[in-house]
Amino acid sequence: MAAVVPPAPATEALSPFETGPGTPAGRYLRSFWQPVKLSQDLREGQAQPIAVMGEKFTLYRGAGGKPVVTQSGCAHRQTLLSVGHVEGDSIRCMFHGWKFGSDGQCQEAPGQSPRLVERTRIRTYPACEAYGLIFVYFGEGEPPRFPDIEAFSKKHGKDMMSALVLDCGTYRRNCNYYVNVENALDLAHVPYTHRISSDPTITEVGFSPEVAFVRDITVERFDFGVRAIEVIESAPPTVSTVMLPNAMHLIVGQRDGYLEQVAWRVPIDDESHLSFQIAAMHTDEEGKIRYQEYQARKSELVAKYPSTELCAEQVLRGEKTLLDFADHPDLVNMEDHVAQMGMQFITDRGRENLAQSDKAVVQLRRMFMSRLADFVSGAPAESGW
Ligand code: FES
Ligand SMILES: [Fe+2]
Repeated sequence: MAAVVPPAPATEALSPFETGPGTPAGRYLRSFWQPVKLSQDLREGQAQPIAVMGEKFTLYRGAGGKPVVTQSGCAHRQTLLSVGHVEGDSIRCMFHGWKFGSDGQCQEAPGQSPRLVERTRIRTYPACEAYGLIFVYFGEGEPPRFPDIEAFSKKHGKDMMSALVLDCGTYRRNCNYYVNVENALDLAHVPYTHRISSDPTITEVGFSPEVAFVRDITVERFDFGVRAIEVIESAPPTVSTVMLPNAMHLIVGQRDGYLEQVAWRVPIDDESHLSFQIAAMHTDEEGKIRYQEYQARKSELVAKYPSTELCAEQVLRGEKTLLDFADHPDLVNMEDHVAQMGMQFITDRGRENLAQSDKAVVQLRRMFMSRLADFVSGAPAESGW
């Protein structure tokens, strides 16, 4: 895919954190398919606003079932198209009724000349659906090859798509996406951040207690990513891979087998992001039944609490502790929320004291910056999927 690349900025101006329109990392991330919504969260005939990398868009599902992504506002006076009406595969603005096809071409503009209709268009973006997620390509030119998760999983000795339990999910976290990208390689956080969720005497589901020790990790670099491997004596190793620029693949022990997860951290803006994940539980029939029974009770447990984000904010304000949420089905996630949202001065790296256990994170920073520099110098954006 040949991206349109403006002149390279000075390397020292490069940063993974800023992803707004025109920023180096923003253009880099826009060169890959990015998930924006769970398929199940967009009904046929429904339109919704979405925010990605500091920009707003309209997402809708037409009568043919295909997701369509357009610029957020109407060509006429920029009212949000997401509050309009889906008609067949088109969308009609709720303000004065201008109607646009899924290719962005204006089809009707009541009371206006046919010439105006003909010459009016809105911008649309390639969208597709896979693994229960809706993906969009926000870059210039032709979209890149779509990631083949199934082949990637098989290449690593697993078969994610035929796992007994396969699920997808999403959450919002109010911190820069890159903090969460790096977190995938920070295996030393697990025993402490997830102290409660890896203790079976306190929690019903969660990590296997075997993961709750700090061990040395092996770091592997490959063309478009970094992998951290932690060998655990009595359980399968934890293997966590970051696929540049913002995706990850993880295999980690759970109490009922092990979890294989693929996730993308997609910036909403520079202070918040959405994570979209596909999760496979490699377990046995009994583990599957326990999982399903727990899922049936999960909505009841979730209903006891405000959103995971708000619970984490209560902990950060000192009003609650994580132990107050010991039966929260999203406790693992909440623990990560608290650790990552609690980080301060993230973009001022002079305040950090990186140590031995951060060696995979350091490798990732080097590789991210080097691939970003290549990209702004005109190299094509390539992924390892
Ligand atoms: S703003 Fe959309 S039709 Fe007028
Ligand atoms: Fe974590």
